[in-house]
Amino acid sequence: MRIDIVTLFPEVALAPLSDSIIQRARAAGVVEVRAHQLRDWSTDKHRRVDDSPCGGGPGMVLQAEPLFAAVAALRGPLTRVVLMTPQGQPFKQALARQLATDAHLLILCGHYEGVDHRVIEALVDLELSIGDYVLTNGAIAAAVVCDAIIRLLPGALGDDRSPEDESFCDPQLLEAPTYTRPVQYQGMCVPEVLLSGHHGKIAAWKHQQALARTRANRPDLLP
Ligand code: ADE
Repeated sequence: MRIDIVTLFPEVALAPLSDSIIQRARAAGVVEVRAHQLRDWSTDKHRRVDDSPCGGGPGMVLQAEPLFAAVAALRGPLTRVVLMTPQGQPFKQALARQLATDAHLLILCGHYEGVDHRVIEALVDLELSIGDYVLTNGAIAAAVVCDAIIRLLPGALGDDRSPEDESFCDPQLLEAPTYTRPVQYQGMCVPEVLLSGHHGKIAAWKHQQALARTRANRPDLLP
C-alpha cells in the first residue's frame, strides 16, 4: 500500500508514523508513506495557499488551485482521495479495515476554516472525521487514520492475528479488562477465573465483562 499526505505540516503528519510498529512496517516495505508540503503547489510568489472566505466570516480557507495541482500530481488509477475534516463521516474500525485493502490513499489535510468546497465536489472520494472535536490541523487526524490502517496491513504487527479480538472487532462491544503478573498488587487481585485455566469459563467471563464495560463507557454502541 502507498499513502501520500498533503499538508502544510508534513513533519506533524510523519512524526507519529516514524517510530515503533509503524516505522518497522514502513522499513519492511509493508507500506510506503510520503508527506508533501502543500505550498510546493502554490503559484503565489509568497507560497500562499489560503484566502479569506467568500461571503465573509472568520479565518482563512485553503484555495482550490494548489489542492487541484497536488491531486493532479499524485493521483493514479487506483487512488482514493480522502479529506480530513471535522465535517467528514466518522472514522471507525470497519472503515479502517476497508481502507486497508486500498492500493493507494491520497490524504488531504484541512486547516484554518476548511478547504474551498470545489475541491470536495470535484476531487474528494471520502471526507473523514476522527471525532466530534476540532483540531488545529488535519495532519494530526491524518496520522491517526494512517496508524489505524497501517497496523491492519499483513505483516505490520508481529502476530497477524492480534487485531482480531480487540475492541471494535465486534463494533457493538468493547474489550474485556486484561491483567498480567503479579497476581496480587497493592491488595488487588487478578480475577480468579483468569487463573483457572478453564477456557469456557474465561470466555464467558470476558463476554460478561465486555458487556458491562460497554454499558458503562459506551452505551451508544449497544443495540
Ligand atoms: N481537522 C480538524 N479537526 C478534525 C477532526 N476532528 N477530524 C478530522 N480532521 C480534522
